[in-house]
Amino acid sequence: MPKLEEFNSLSRQLNWRGLKTDSEITSLRETMTQVASNLRRGAENLLKNCAGLRSGQSLLVIAEDPACGMYGQGLAEAVADVARDLGCDVTLTVLPFDPGQAGNSDDILASMEPHDQTVFLHRVGDQLRFSSVLAEKRPVVCYTLDREMLASGFGQTEHGAMVNLKDLVNRALAGAKDIHVTCPLGTDVRGGGAGFPDTGSDTSVIRFPQSVFTPVPGSGYRGQVAQAGFLVGTGSNYYDPYGVELRDTLFITFDGERITGFDGGAEDVATARKHYRHVADQFGIDPWVMHSWHAGIHPGCAFGQSAGASLERWSGGAFGNPRLLHFHTCGNYAPGEISLNIVDPTVLIDGVPVWEGGSFFPDRLAGGKELLDRYEMLADLFRAPAREIGLSANGRLQFRSEPASG
Ligand SMILES: [Fe+2]
Repeated sequence: MPKLEEFNSLSRQLNWRGLKTDSEITSLRETMTQVASNLRRGAENLLKNCAGLRSGQSLLVIAEDPACGMYGQGLAEAVADVARDLGCDVTLTVLPFDPGQAGNSDDILASMEPHDQTVFLHRVGDQLRFSSVLAEKRPVVCYTLDREMLASGFGQTEHGAMVNLKDLVNRALAGAKDIHVTCPLGTDVRGGGAGFPDTGSDTSVIRFPQSVFTPVPGSGYRGQVAQAGFLVGTGSNYYDPYGVELRDTLFITFDGERITGFDGGAEDVATARKHYRHVADQFGIDPWVMHSWHAGIHPGCAFGQSAGASLERWSGGAFGNPRLLHFHTCGNYAPGEISLNIVDPTVLIDGVPVWEGGSFFPDRLAGGKELLDRYEMLADLFRAPAREIGLSANGRLQFRSEPASG
């Protein structure tokens, strides 16, 4: 947490040296107090509403070293401080990121064992989100990548509201007869109601914030996905290169769970074929699988950098915004190893545009209006949703880093 005592000491020095006036310092202090208060509210939402922690319980925070470039400085310490204030016995473990760590998770499981709950601020939690090894403990994986995200509406919106919203979307998709997904670049995918597997929860972890609905199986759908910018990994495994550049729009056609072809510029088609084979060979998996798809549902999810600045960070931080819908491909399991990301989708559920040009309208779902009536912050966010999803100046996803635009 920002330390007000430290600020007060610094402000006295600034004032003494004539660098800041009293009113400027007062204004800075108020801003800092507000930031600290928002950060605390986000952390309490994570710890109490999502992780279910109570005073007297023990918490393990597994944090990724900020030097690895994924999680920001001070986030783990802020979460740990609030947990201690809530009366929890906190152990904070900072680990580097090792792409192979998820394949050898015994040490992680052993470290979790003595604790009532574990919160991952580390990619290994995300890597294991569909793995059965965590199913019994159901730890929390946190997708707020820095203090700003945790302090924003993304972190503060009550966890229960987002779980309810996810359930409403799942119910609408499962009960539909016709689902049609399009995007401005030419995505056109259509099929019947979502055939969700009858296996209870879709992940072995609890996501915080809950920002996507359950992946819809590719079976029963066909059409084409229009991909611009790049092909990128899914957070399941990390490989080299993690992303490859597309020069123009690439169309990936599929029928049920099978990818049937690539259309577009000859160079892009060759790049895609080579990359799918390269990734599949590394893991001994079937490259031509269209496993499933889902979209963001969180109006507070904002990603301020351009995607190309860090594809790893973008793919782990932006996907919860409703302007993004992604497909899991390459490998017959969720989430596959290559994701296809479309921007500003329209999703017609039995003809109703629940997503329309990247805007998500929960009030068009059965029970959606009542949900928004119940959760004021969520309703406010839907009135002015976050628009930043890492697009470049040309309004598209780009492989190379450029200044971000809305
Ligand atoms: Fe996904």
